[in-house]
Amino acid sequence: MKLKSNTVFDCSVIDVSKIHNTAGNITVVENKKNIPFDVKRVYYLYDIPGGESRGGHAHYELEQYIVAASGSFDVIIDDGKNSKRVTLNRPNFALHIVPGLWRELDNFSSGSICMVLASHKYDEDDYIRDYTEFLNLKK
Ligand code: TYD
Repeated sequence: MKLKSNTVFDCSVIDVSKIHNTAGNITVVENKKNIPFDVKRVYYLYDIPGGESRGGHAHYELEQYIVAASGSFDVIIDDGKNSKRVTLNRPNFALHIVPGLWRELDNFSSGSICMVLASHKYDEDDYIRDYTEFLNLKK
């Protein structure tokens, strides 16, 4: 399978809007309204021990919105030439990660929750879990 030639510059932090209320805020993400792909799966990481890192893979096709639903963490995206560290710390901002990029997550604050909105169902064949293989496929 061909790995997409996307770069870190194709990823951006999106302000997904916020309905403000003195009793608490609501953020809504709705297919075809404020997300550029149809969400097929939602998962979240939580109870992450201090100092732990997650991710460490790339995807052939999967596109994601990553949101700090609570607390904060960093996402490092890497296209084989450039890498970028993005801090997420507000539930109304999402990092849009396009396919074909290596990603790692670290610097999780205590009690943080990383929510991921994903464009496809879980498919292990869509993963590249070896960084050297990723670099070769990116050439
Ligand atoms: P993995 O993608 O390696 O975690 P991360 O990149 O966040 O560090 O997934 C960890 C385990 O969970 C692995 O055995 C696959 C499984 N998993 C599912 O079964 N379904 C899913 O939707 C996801 C994201 C993971």
